[in-house]
Amino acid sequence: MSDTHPIRLRGVAKHFPLHWRRGRVIAVENLDLEIRRGEVFGLLGPNGSGKSTTLKMILGLTPPTRGEVELFGEPPARPDSRRRLGFLPESPYFYRFLSGAETLRFFGRLCGVPNRRLDERIDELIALVGLAHGRDRPLATYSKGMLQRIGLAQALVHDPELVLLDEPTAGVDPMGSRDIKDLILRLKAAGKTVVLSSHLLEQVEEVCDRVAILHLGRKIVEGPLDSLLSSGDRATLEVSGYDAARTDAIRAALASAGAQLVAVGRPRLTLEEIFVREVRRAGGDKG
Ligand SMILES: Nc1ncnc2c1ncn2[C@@H]1O[C@H](COP(=O)(O)OP(=O)(O)OP(=O)(O)O)[C@@H](O)[C@H]1O
Ligand SMILES: [Mg+2]
Repeated sequence: MSDTHPIRLRGVAKHFPLHWRRGRVIAVENLDLEIRRGEVFGLLGPNGSGKSTTLKMILGLTPPTRGEVELFGEPPARPDSRRRLGFLPESPYFYRFLSGAETLRFFGRLCGVPNRRLDERIDELIALVGLAHGRDRPLATYSKGMLQRIGLAQALVHDPELVLLDEPTAGVDPMGSRDIKDLILRLKAAGKTVVLSSHLLEQVEEVCDRVAILHLGRKIVEGPLDSLLSSGDRATLEVSGYDAARTDAIRAALASAGAQLVAVGRPRLTLEEIFVREVRRAGGDKG
């Protein structure tokens, strides 16, 4: 069963007691979640809705107050199941005096990557996350976007089959978040399972197969992104050679095909498309 669903949560709750008997914070309540192998799953929700707490329970970093968490069919604290997973924390902590390459060497050793594989793996990862310019610089000199990239590389150092990313695009400029989205899509193409959390919805919309939205620790929506976002039997046609004077003729043609013209507008580029295009054109994209 764990082959098809690397992560399962059943009736999971996490309550944090407050000091001086002032009650408790309900971070997660009655959460059921099944993550399928090979999908990109988005855990969405506003600040404080329980996303990071859910990821920490999946990782076995904090036990649930109630309910069951399974990672590869086992309790998550077991080292065997942890070895198959990579994690990008919300605010990763790194040694400031190590360079990018040294940081990856450190985490590679921690994760048991054999020494003979390590040099090659570091080169692969630096290229994968686009950090060639930071390879030999101490992390103290990194920008936020560069730190996020080294955090991603660290999560992937042992080529895990499951990757948990807490706010992977936080603090990253549009160019960086484009790269991170592409990286997530590449992980999916390589057959990996990715779970990411975000409150920046437009940033994850493109990459997620399914999402759940949390609110005050409870799941309020869950489903495949396609069906959540589709608007029934409506479709958008994009035409060239459009002449506003002929709108009535177009309306009539559509009516004869059994469809109704609902809106006419000009397609617009997104700000992200313009940003990425212009920065690429200027040739300077340095994390
Ligand atoms: N160690 C803790 N002790 C007490 N309360 C906590 C603790 N960790 C989290 N909480 C509370 O649990 C709730 C959920 O927090 P969590 O960090 O999981 O939210 P989140 O969805 O990740 O938010 P964000 O988008 O800001 O990262 C919040 O109300 C938070 O204050
Ligand atoms: Mg969080």
